[in-house]
Amino acid sequence: MQITRVITERLSGENMLTDSQFATYHTEGFVVVPDVIPPADLALVRDDVETLFALDHPGRMLETDGTTVRGVHGCHQVSSLFDRLTRLPRLLGAAEQVLESKVYVYQSKVNAKLALRGDVWPWHQDYIFWEREDGMRTPRAMNIALFLDDATDFNGPLLFLPGSHLLGTVRTERRSAGDDWAANLKADLNYQLSPRQLASVAADLGIRAATGTAGSLLLFDPRLIHGSGTNMSPQDRRLLLITYNSVDNAPVPVPNPRPEFLVSTDSTALTAWEAGLGA
Ligand code: SIN
Ligand code: MN
Repeated sequence: MQITRVITERLSGENMLTDSQFATYHTEGFVVVPDVIPPADLALVRDDVETLFALDHPGRMLETDGTTVRGVHGCHQVSSLFDRLTRLPRLLGAAEQVLESKVYVYQSKVNAKLALRGDVWPWHQDYIFWEREDGMRTPRAMNIALFLDDATDFNGPLLFLPGSHLLGTVRTERRSAGDDWAANLKADLNYQLSPRQLASVAADLGIRAATGTAGSLLLFDPRLIHGSGTNMSPQDRRLLLITYNSVDNAPVPVPNPRPEFLVSTDSTALTAWEAGLGA
């Protein structure tokens, strides 16, 4: 039986995506929305990210060289500017439009992928991690990424198999037996696609790079197969990622929950921040 949800609460921003962007998100599994965050606001976010990268925080992960920052997790929990960013009507409205409900921040992070040092992210789907490790019940969640730098063909952009979200969850093996959540933040991910699985899906769907200018948004479905290569260019490729989850889709309790900076347990609906990022 199909249950149609009746939306009774007023959502934060009606139709933040155009019809065409909305349709692209659903058919391809991702869409780039250009030039959303103006340069002055982007400068504020970049300054904030510098501060977060310098913080000695358990959610900060290093590349295998042991010194270069690979990513910082749980940013909305420690930075008020980051919290405001997640609630800007353009972002929050797009998340509510796609998920058709009030939402909360499930995860937030900044992946650095610095010039000449940033390492790969193997091919994977996000939802299998959230389902198997965190107890998320349905894929009624989405990622909104903000390009902090231009993402080009050469600085390790996100790569997608367009339309692969429609395949559902691809059966992949958990590579390690323990509760090593940190492995999932490095290049040795659990639940990565095998070369054979990649070849089979890529033969049908092809591979596309998600490129765009700094300040643009990239929305993508949690079942979309994605990964990224090393950054061989002299330009950094910093990507800020917010995962929104429907308030109706909060995970069920699991025996060994991952840290709060990876899975927010506060599923209170976000309210829009109308006053501007710097206010
Ligand atoms: C990347 O930063 O290239 C990978 C991001 C992700 O898989 O979440
Ligand atoms: Mn991912």
